[in-house]
Amino acid sequence: MILGIETSCDDTSAAVLDWEGRVRSSVVSSQNLIHAPYGGIVPELASRHHLENLPAVVGEALASAGVGKTDLRAVAVTAGPGLLGSLLVGLSYAKAYAFGLGVPFAAVNHIEAHLASPWIEHPETPFPALVLVVSGGHSHLFLRRSPEETLLVSATRDDAAGEALDKVAKFLGLPYPGGPVIDRISDGGNPKAVPFPLPRLSAGGLDYSFSGIKTAALHHLRKNGLTGAAWEEGSPLPAWELDFAASYQKRVVDHLIQRARKAMLLHRPSAFGLAGGVACNRLLRSRSADLAEEFGVGCSIPSPRYCTDNAAMVAFRAMPGLRAGHSSPPDADAFANAIWPRC
Ligand code: KG4
Ligand code: ZN
Repeated sequence: MILGIETSCDDTSAAVLDWEGRVRSSVVSSQNLIHAPYGGIVPELASRHHLENLPAVVGEALASAGVGKTDLRAVAVTAGPGLLGSLLVGLSYAKAYAFGLGVPFAAVNHIEAHLASPWIEHPETPFPALVLVVSGGHSHLFLRRSPEETLLVSATRDDAAGEALDKVAKFLGLPYPGGPVIDRISDGGNPKAVPFPLPRLSAGGLDYSFSGIKTAALHHLRKNGLTGAAWEEGSPLPAWELDFAASYQKRVVDHLIQRARKAMLLHRPSAFGLAGGVACNRLLRSRSADLAEEFGVGCSIPSPRYCTDNAAMVAFRAMPGLRAGHSSPPDADAFANAIWPRC
């Protein structure tokens, strides 16, 4: 058994996987209610709550997997990128836990854990695969050539897709995090009502940019004197707001898929994958499936519980290395940013 720990942002998570990579338990304790009044994550609060929650979350993961500490052969933990204070809580805890048990520990890159997540439930997904990782902090397209060989195809020049959804939702007075709310309320709106611009494709350019769509959204609200009132889940919203949300969501998804399509043409991978919190978005999931079908390849999208931050993907990412006998040195440090070789 392997224990996974994830504390890179605002979710405290622990998971137990067996040595074949099958998930035996996955527990996530969300801090959404703590950060919601501030409309975004407060790093100091996040790390304090990780410290408070982690022992209970790990205990619950072991109990629901029906295993004890002595069944563990390794501990895997997110070392970065993320909020340094939050990362240090999980990393220190995991190191101490592994050393106490006398087992190896593996420091894992959070984005690579997201990147590996389509394989948790679809281990047959072939390589090379083009994987779109879209979360609150990242919008990256990767070419995953093998479990250990990853090339960066493109990244965002400014906001991440999740950030662009969360920020505009905040201006509408919708609760944090806004991405899932925009997804839900868009069902009642007309996605063609507001003609948001689509970032232009420069020659050969595959990078993402959400600042133009986001600025156009704010401009549209100001120009038309529209302001969203504070909203309670379940209460009705005005038609203009539903139309606005549906149109904005469509444009964000159009942009994600347009660049991914160009990368598919360029690299002709054997599969398409989607990962990260924004991969919960239903429109993006169906448009990704359409894209893969257009290219005659399979589409691997994790269940929503493996899209948002979770420790199962962290342990899963560490698996090939641990099975090959690799582990991280005791002085492995937390890191805020990561880079990958470009395609
Ligand atoms: O991967 P994640 O849990 O954390 C980071 O590593 O950032 O992603 C969180 C992001 C947030 O921006 C949230 O609004 C977005 O994922 N998100 C969604 C949906 N569910 C979560 N965005 C759009 N539609 C959803 N259904
Ligand atoms: Zn994440």
